[in-house]
Amino acid sequence: MKILLTGGLGYIGSHTAVQALKDNYEVIIVDNLSNSKEEVVNKIRQITGKDVKFYKIDVCDKQKLELVFDENPDIFAVIHFAGFKAVGESVEKPLMYYQNNLISTINLLELMKKNGIVNFIFSSSATVYAPSKIMPLEESFPLEASNPYGRTKLFNEFILKDFQSANPEFNITLLRYFNPIGADDSGIIGEDPNGIPNNLMPYICKVAIGEFDHLDIFGNDYNTKDGTGVRDYIHVVDLATGHIKALKQIESNKNNGLKIYNLGTGKGYSVLDIVNTFNKVNGDLVKYEFTQRRAGDIDIYYASPKKAEKELGFKTEKTLEEMCKSSYNYVIKNK
Ligand code: NAD
Ligand code: UD1
Repeated sequence: MKILLTGGLGYIGSHTAVQALKDNYEVIIVDNLSNSKEEVVNKIRQITGKDVKFYKIDVCDKQKLELVFDENPDIFAVIHFAGFKAVGESVEKPLMYYQNNLISTINLLELMKKNGIVNFIFSSSATVYAPSKIMPLEESFPLEASNPYGRTKLFNEFILKDFQSANPEFNITLLRYFNPIGADDSGIIGEDPNGIPNNLMPYICKVAIGEFDHLDIFGNDYNTKDGTGVRDYIHVVDLATGHIKALKQIESNKNNGLKIYNLGTGKGYSVLDIVNTFNKVNGDLVKYEFTQRRAGDIDIYYASPKKAEKELGFKTEKTLEEMCKSSYNYVIKNK
């Protein structure tokens, strides 16, 4: 069965490509390399021993994207990872975010409809949830976005819901990711952000390999067990598997309609839990200092994974130790 992954050379897309190939899907990747490298194509082949078709195309370029559908009329489903994802950058360049993250989806839906391809899986985010005193977050909780990046995810969800209502033959699954970290055990693919990382694990890894002196922990006065922020970190390989489960659900049930699932572990870990576990499994490599809170951060959020477990049979398998070990394994092999 053929699937198209947009943004398939990026962090989550490449891990999903590997899991899909291992599961005998045929994989086509469209990526414009705006945040990835072409060498990932060969890395995916190296890990799986299988071929993958790659098109260097911008999903916002509808004419070029159409060629992909013309050449591959038998695509079963599209998984749409392509998008920009840096919160700070989205505040500075909102139009760039709206352009890329919205036009890409609209182009895909139009071309899918034209070509009779009706199965679509979308990379949404926990960022679409409104601040909540009640944890864990369930899929039915109120939605709200606090920055342009988050709004692109929320608007995408609305567009996809409207589109699915108007086109009930479409099966659309919105996957709300929590905080993906970790890497494939091979150490061949992993998270490789450009410039200074915004997110916790990439920053920790840069400290561990000596690129930065220490980690700044943003706040130690939150209302959490140790005062540092708590999140639901999920191993990227578990997250990738979640996409395969969503595909299987669509395959087995032709009238899925619109579905929404959290992909998280249901467990909250603090920043100190992450640093301490990282140091425990990789050696005492990461020093830290407490600094002031980062604007826009909240104290705690984590997923309820119950719906995904019940309806998709999705259950995370990897431990926090494995997340920390594989993240470091990737950076030392690729520094
Ligand atoms: P990533 O930047 O590593 O991967 C995105 C890929 O899409 C990159 O390879 C990039 O080159 C490509 N791309 C971007 N715009 C494109 C376009 N117009 N045409 C073709 N290719 C394009 O990001 P990721 O972490 O793998 O995230 C994948 C998706 O998951 C994104 O939509 C992101 O918003 C979402 N998401 C990520 C996280 C996270 O923490 N990583 C959390 C929640 C949701
Ligand atoms: C961030 C994004 C969110 C996105 C998510 C994807 C922001 C404000 N939010 O969320 O939109 O969906 O990534 O995974 O950018 N921390 C430090 N020091 C650092 C980096 C982070 O202490 O150098 C702390 C943060 O304060 C937070 C935790 O580590 O408590 C996790 O931070 P991060 O990895 O940036 O993820 P989120 O804040 O959950």
